[in-house]
Amino acid sequence: MERKLFIAGNWKMTTLLDESVGLAEALVEKVGAVEAVDMAVCPPFLCLSGVAGALAGSKIAMGAQDVFYEDNGAYTGEVSTVMLKDVGCTYAICGHSERRHVIGETDEIINRKVLKCIGDGLSPILCVGELLTERQADETMDVVSRQIRLGLEGVSAADVIGVTLAYEPVWAIGTGETATPDQAQEVHAMIRRLLGELYDETLARNVRIQYGGSVKPENAAELLAQGDIDGALVGGASLKPDDFKAIIQAGIN
Ligand code: PGA
Repeated sequence: MERKLFIAGNWKMTTLLDESVGLAEALVEKVGAVEAVDMAVCPPFLCLSGVAGALAGSKIAMGAQDVFYEDNGAYTGEVSTVMLKDVGCTYAICGHSERRHVIGETDEIINRKVLKCIGDGLSPILCVGELLTERQADETMDVVSRQIRLGLEGVSAADVIGVTLAYEPVWAIGTGETATPDQAQEVHAMIRRLLGELYDETLARNVRIQYGGSVKPENAAELLAQGDIDGALVGGASLKPDDFKAIIQAGIN
């Protein structure tokens, strides 16, 4: 099976409702009919239902930037899988580095989110990645493999195929600094080997692994051409419709 590229935009905590809807409309106009790659955007929670309206009928799916692992009840401030599906999400990002390092989410919490998404029919995008200090200490492979093992604990072979992994070196997120295609490919290949050990070779070949961290039109083609890079999780450049379109175009070529 040929892995279809998956390019997702993470709008983070940046857009107001009107801006979100306007951005979604602009993306629909530019890439809304593309079928050669899978596409999604992840607006802030409060903008999800407005964006869903703007995306309706297009090929652009919608994801949430986070999710909680309980069903319903006394969890002030949290948002459940059922709520996300109700407004039209198909994906939820779990364990973005900003949640790990700014909010303090642990691998255990992230794993509960991944399992909850799977159980409830949302596709998780599980993010992993090392800090600059960890890269400098030559700990990248250890850190990333630990995050993958713990993040996927309890995920069956039948379900892992529906999980998207996103390798996002923390030092490359929002910094303008991108991992070189070789640096990214090296970690992606390690992740695929690890999936082979945890599951089997065939499954490992079919799980999609996105790269994230300052992906932009100038570097997208080279990154996406790497054998183990199956798409991109795009922050800053996903807020500019022409840039997002150019990244998608790079994925098609
Ligand atoms: P960036 O963000 O493209 O702005 O570096 C990527 C991400 O955080 O997912």
